[in-house]
Amino acid sequence: MTTIAIVEGDGIGHEVIPVARSVLEALHPAYEFLPVDVGYGMWERTGCPCADKEIDALKTADAILFGAVTTPPMKDYQSVVLRIRKALDLYANLRPVQGDGFDIMIVRENTEGLYSGIEESGPDRATTLRVVTRKGTERIVRSAIRLAQQRSGRLTIGHKANVLKSDVLFRDICTSEARSAGITFNDKYIDALALDLLQHPAAYDVVVTTNIFGDILSDVASYLVGGLGLAPSANIGDRYALFEPVHGSAPDIAGRNIANPIAAIRSAVMLLDYLGDKDGACRVEIAIGTVISQGIRTRDLGGLAGTREFGDAVIRVIRKNR
Ligand code: NAD
Ligand code: IPM
Ligand code: MN
Repeated sequence: MTTIAIVEGDGIGHEVIPVARSVLEALHPAYEFLPVDVGYGMWERTGCPCADKEIDALKTADAILFGAVTTPPMKDYQSVVLRIRKALDLYANLRPVQGDGFDIMIVRENTEGLYSGIEESGPDRATTLRVVTRKGTERIVRSAIRLAQQRSGRLTIGHKANVLKSDVLFRDICTSEARSAGITFNDKYIDALALDLLQHPAAYDVVVTTNIFGDILSDVASYLVGGLGLAPSANIGDRYALFEPVHGSAPDIAGRNIANPIAAIRSAVMLLDYLGDKDGACRVEIAIGTVISQGIRTRDLGGLAGTREFGDAVIRVIRKNR
């Protein structure tokens, strides 16, 4: 039996995840779904956004489908998604950006860097320690190299080694691993890389970078495919895996049935791929393309379809192409 933990979270998570779940149900009626409630809404109800009980529940599943959580800018409020990534040691954050003539995979280190959580904050001075370790860098670059070898064999290392000592270490370890693996690689400063990725997307395949740079780069790169409503991601560790859209809870559009569910559906596609259902993954991706080409689109893509209506159209095509 395959169990999928379902975390809607907050905001548009309550709208896009039910759509993505229905897609999984259409393909796999035998999947068992385990709803897990976490996030800001949970905090408002119980005073705790995510307890150990929820982490334990997530660990029992074969894979996790996650929407988005709201993180209020309050001192002492710990981001739920960061807690889960750490607790499950989901160190590789894969953020694909595919379009006409380009196929990029951003591989973001997901457990350290500026997200180390080692911080101090006073009334006049606050600091955050940016931690880059050999262990953390070796495991992320090895994941990136394995992916590059399965794809076109090219790797780009994104860093800011001209300023940050921590990125000198990151660049040097990545470079030496890439050299030993015998793959084609180059490295670029992250600011120049962000622009070049938009100007020459076809020049890139796998891009490996540190935590915050990967966070920013993936939102920027989603411009190439029509914005955040389309960009999926996978958070992979050695034991667990969580799939979520790159976007957040989008409070500005939540509750109106206008969010684009494609990023969530594509995250479910990555989940299917992870569980070994390549055929199902392919069928869903084709169905999304068919529905878009029929002119059925949500507002962010210039259409009139609602979140649910778009999802229903995708499921209709999946069933028809059975
Ligand atoms: P956001 O990604 O939620 O929204 C940015 C912009 O993109 C908004 O204008 C939004 O309407 C639009 N957008 C996002 N997803 C869309 C979709 N599916 N369809 C159409 N438009 C879409 O980022 P934000 O506004 O900076 O953050 C909102 C909240 O989400 C914050 O509390 C933030 O911390 C949280 N967040 C959570 C996650 C996560 O849980 N993984 C990721 C990012 C942000
Ligand atoms: C993302 C988000 C998260 C991050 C936030 C919500 C903690 O922006 O998944 O891209 O910075 O990783
Ligand atoms: Mn982000």
